Amino acid sequence: MKDTVNLTVNGVRYSVACEKSESLLDILRDRLGLFGAKEGCGYGECGSCTVILDGEAVTACTMRDKERIDGSEIMTIEGLADNEGNLHPLQEAFVESGAVQCGFCTPGFIMRLYALFDKNPNASANEIREAMSKNLCRCTGYEALWEAALLYQKRMLGEKDGCARK
Ligand code: FES
Ligand code: FES
Repeated sequence: MKDTVNLTVNGVRYSVACEKSESLLDILRDRLGLFGAKEGCGYGECGSCTVILDGEAVTACTMRDKERIDGSEIMTIEGLADNEGNLHPLQEAFVESGAVQCGFCTPGFIMRLYALFDKNPNASANEIREAMSKNLCRCTGYEALWEAALLYQKRMLGEKDGCARK
């Protein structure tokens, strides 16, 4: 038996018939053809499927609560660039910092950080670390990811070069 969920993804409304067992990640990828959120572990450990649900970063692979999904506003990595295809400043910071290697973890990290800074632009180093600790990367050694987060925050806050938080 199917459920029908109504949801808004990146500003577009959808009505989707899906199986009870399907996760938000299944809906995004298999029903809506949005492949930005990646399936790594499939059980909530790697963060590669992170999207924003009503302002909160969630692992889409574990989100199966159709009552929570129904009526929600979802943001995925596809929603960050503008209509002309210009990257969001957070994406630019990742590119400039060399934080994108294989790229598999990138959408998850970016959505995790977007949700953090959207709520708390002045997030402390510990708060940034805490948010990033929910996502895994096999390539970068994390330093470039950390630099990207700080670069974006510094630009967002309008600080001058060289004032990056340690
Ligand atoms: S695929 Fe969702 S947390 Fe790993
Ligand atoms: S860039 Fe490859 S897993 Fe992070």
